[in-house]
Amino acid sequence: MFITKKTINGKDYFYFQKSVRDKDKVKSEYIAYLGKDKEEAEKKAELIKQQLGSKEKNYQKKLQQMTISIDELAAFCKRKGFVYPSGEIYGGLAGFWDFGHLGTLLENNIKTEWREYHVQERDDIVEIDGSIITNPKVWEASGHISSFVDLAVICKKCGYKTKIDKHEIPGRCEKCQGEYENQGEFNPMFVTEVGPIKPSVEVYLRPETAQLIFTDFKLVQENARLKLPFGIAQIGKSFRNELSPREFLFRSREFEQMEIEYFTALNQKCPYIEETKAVDILIYNEDIQKNNKAPEFMNVYDAWKKRIIKNDWHAYWLSKEYEWFISLGANPLNFRARQHLAEEKSHYAIDTWDLEYNFPMGWRELQGFANRADYDLKQHQNFSKTSMEIEHEGKKVIPHVVCEPSLGVERAFLVFMLDSYFYDEKRKNIVLKLHPKLAPIKAAVFPIIKKPEYEKISDDIVIKLKKEFNVIYDKSGSIGRRYSRNDEIGTPYCITIDDISPKQEDVTIRDRDTTEQIRVKIKNIDNVLRKLINEEISFLKAGKKVETRVK
Ligand code: GAP
Repeated sequence: MFITKKTINGKDYFYFQKSVRDKDKVKSEYIAYLGKDKEEAEKKAELIKQQLGSKEKNYQKKLQQMTISIDELAAFCKRKGFVYPSGEIYGGLAGFWDFGHLGTLLENNIKTEWREYHVQERDDIVEIDGSIITNPKVWEASGHISSFVDLAVICKKCGYKTKIDKHEIPGRCEKCQGEYENQGEFNPMFVTEVGPIKPSVEVYLRPETAQLIFTDFKLVQENARLKLPFGIAQIGKSFRNELSPREFLFRSREFEQMEIEYFTALNQKCPYIEETKAVDILIYNEDIQKNNKAPEFMNVYDAWKKRIIKNDWHAYWLSKEYEWFISLGANPLNFRARQHLAEEKSHYAIDTWDLEYNFPMGWRELQGFANRADYDLKQHQNFSKTSMEIEHEGKKVIPHVVCEPSLGVERAFLVFMLDSYFYDEKRKNIVLKLHPKLAPIKAAVFPIIKKPEYEKISDDIVIKLKKEFNVIYDKSGSIGRRYSRNDEIGTPYCITIDDISPKQEDVTIRDRDTTEQIRVKIKNIDNVLRKLINEEISFLKAGKKVETRVK
């Protein structure tokens, strides 16, 4: 394996390649894009080598190209109608974003997939939808008023504002290495008022969805007759008055969380731990970090057996969540599980792991997995004087949240966009290889000939498909242009009504990623599309393969 450099328009780009023997010739084959910086590229190549050593076959086919910075992704999202700066005609507002038509569809698909995987397909998790503003005592009890505080600093040299953890003080500016000036602590909860007549009640916009799960815990448990272990899930908006929102959607002031509070009895074993045997991931626990070693690629079950991941529920949920991302097309090489250092943990947590993702700006938290133990239920029991005990094996217990998988919808959105963003050299356009389940538009329908007979068939297909899927009817421009327009927004299938369609009562379907085409009977089109999206059939088995000029 070796690193190669390409210079395009005066800029260097580094790639990782390997030599493969093809009969008598030796060819080089692409493995991964390594970025624009030589030193970073060498580090990344080392890591990939380590990972591929044990898992080459499985991972090779999944390798993806990530060629854009976070700002380039923001520009692409705006250009294509996924995400806009909020209120842009007035200059926008830092940390707030509006989702356009395609972005809304993609976000909804992410939430639908999350809901199916975590609630619908399981017996042990139910869902609630709590309110954004609630009784302010909730935040007193949860510790958010007293302990949910950040430290604000300003760089004395370049004026860069940021928040840092207390243990990082004095710290050095991440932009210019200048000295930071401490601006004191601040609480990132947004404050507003309830009641139009003064004196009104001061309330907060929730900074996490989790607390509504704790306050409703007894009602939900009784109504759904839940027995330990069980989880309560919630998808909803959260708000944090971040000191310096940045990096597009990564750190915003209004965002959406998909959280699960998973409750167990104290020391209750995870009955699903065997499932972790099938999962390998880069692991970066506290010891490895403190000894300045590189993260290690490990089997999750082995990591739990060796007490690298101490808690079986942590091992299980890290695996489950990682698998969810991979099942929806994310690149496994871009994930790692990192344990929080003792000094980083939130006020409520006794052990926390993050699923981190290799964002263009570096490895960052994608999803948190805190062990909140019985902290929250006990706090609410004490503050509200309402018992949070439930029956377990003939005894009254206060359950423990041994693991809280908590994911931002927008961070998941970034992951799926980044891992599916390709530039196709042959087609000379971007191909957004979103998983068909996530793709905003499932199919585009094109009549190739502008005559009523063909347009009538197209209309009928669109009307039929629209009952079940988001599809678009695209009549304008050359067929090649229509393909590229849809490649760029991730439409997995293009359906073309061509000269022989009226006679044969069939159409062609083109696969976005391979440009292969098949012919399918018009009467079967909805069934075929459903099976393709749900991965119940492979593309070439769904119809008769055909060769065409326009790919
Ligand atoms: N209930 C636990 C909790 O809220 P957190 O680590 O503060 O924990 C959980 O947040 C997840 O919410 C993060 O991993 C991230 O995906 C998302 N998130 C947090 N703050 C965010 C922000 N300012 N912008 C976008 N997403 C954010």
